[in-house]
Amino acid sequence: MSRILAPITSCPIEFTTEQSEHSHPIILVAENDFSFASEDTVAGSWAKANHFTGKSGDILVVPDNDGIASRAYLGAGDGSDAFITGNLFKQLPEGEWHFENLPENPLNLFLGLGLGSYKFRRYLQTKAQKKLKFTLPDNIDKDELERLVETTFLVRDLINTPTNDMEPDTIEEAIRQLGRTYGATVTSIWGDDLLKQNFPMVHAVGRAGSVAPRIIDLRWGDENHPKVTLVGKGVAFDSGGLDIKSANGMLLMKKDMGGAANVMGLARLIMDAKLPIRLRLIVPAVENSISGNAFRPGDVLKSRKGLTVEIGNTDAEGRLILADALAFGDEEKPDYLFDMATLTGAARVALGPDVPPFYCNNENLGQKISRISMEIQDPLWQLPLWKPYQKKLASRIADLNNVTTDGFAGSITAALFLQKFVDQAANWAHFDIYGWTPAEKPAFPIGGEAQGIRALYTILKGL
Ligand code: BES
Ligand code: MN
Ligand code: ZN
Repeated sequence: MSRILAPITSCPIEFTTEQSEHSHPIILVAENDFSFASEDTVAGSWAKANHFTGKSGDILVVPDNDGIASRAYLGAGDGSDAFITGNLFKQLPEGEWHFENLPENPLNLFLGLGLGSYKFRRYLQTKAQKKLKFTLPDNIDKDELERLVETTFLVRDLINTPTNDMEPDTIEEAIRQLGRTYGATVTSIWGDDLLKQNFPMVHAVGRAGSVAPRIIDLRWGDENHPKVTLVGKGVAFDSGGLDIKSANGMLLMKKDMGGAANVMGLARLIMDAKLPIRLRLIVPAVENSISGNAFRPGDVLKSRKGLTVEIGNTDAEGRLILADALAFGDEEKPDYLFDMATLTGAARVALGPDVPPFYCNNENLGQKISRISMEIQDPLWQLPLWKPYQKKLASRIADLNNVTTDGFAGSITAALFLQKFVDQAANWAHFDIYGWTPAEKPAFPIGGEAQGIRALYTILKGL
């Protein structure tokens, strides 16, 4: 049993509200706007020599006469990219820095700066790294900025940690740790108790794993506040089960608990900001493994809700554990029921790794999620719960099959499957996330990623 929980990666940037006399300025430069060169002729020639044109994210560090960095210019491009600050941490010399000219709402510039300083060091022998200090302007809330950065680091750490240090019991321990920090109550049901307490599909999917499957339940906040319930897919590792994945398809499957990691992050944001919400977090945590007692293709499982499910493919396991978890959450009629899951490869084919599709049973809420996610640059894109596709999930011997027979609309049909298990929640939204940055971008290093939780947090703050 592995219950080693490492501390969250800490941010190597210190944000302060007091600017000291040693602080070096950073000047934002719009693309091809060389007016700075006439005020600062040294920078002008240095820019020319280095081909600095103010392209989005480009950085020009200008030394003083002693060869020590004195100021820096940062390309702002056409002003549309929020995360131009993503490479600053890596490129600036150690010291104190401040921005000289900032746009009206600079939160994402500081967020990009913080997020770009992340490096997963748990398994590196050399832990040392440089430290920077940055002054915040008056219109940035230090607590809120640090909350967003630290929470993203938590989500990334949880996903980046390989399965040998992040099994279902470790996921439980991480949730218990959150509970201890914020005064929430955490309970769990595991092993054969899942059968006694009617979580048959969580048990069936997870029973072949070497660590017992479980359902973890965190509760926090005043019972009179709006009930928000978060559910996250916690597959510690997805081998595919008896319908085993290829080597390539399996390589990244430590990240199949990315939905759980993300809702844990969202729960942390809510509790840390003390939002007036009655929060509940439900995580079914399992390993989809292979053993003599593994569930099989062709098996018929009875779900918590009563619907029977024929197993067309053991690799469509996420929807099975989520079905029981969603039904459980739905029973107390929450005002908002949100689930996040690394559910389908089809979502990536449709929208790529950076724009998770989501589904919503309330038109107004769906539009709000779309609009706010784009505004704050935490993109989410709504796809339809297209009813006519429901019949693709028909089974001859059970109420439902867990897969369709053709490969069409894989993300939509997975969402329709989940919808069968939700009927009392006033609002339900499902997020089919990737939870991973596959190619380096400023502020987004390769590895586990938080997706959609800033958008949902923003919406919940506005309730
Ligand atoms: N965890 C995977 C989905 C996944 C794969 C997400 C790769 C991100 C990257 C999920 O459990 C799965 O295996 N889904 C299958 C479903 C199929 C069997 C209907 C898929 O998408 O291929
Ligand atoms: Mn799978
Ligand atoms: Zn999976």
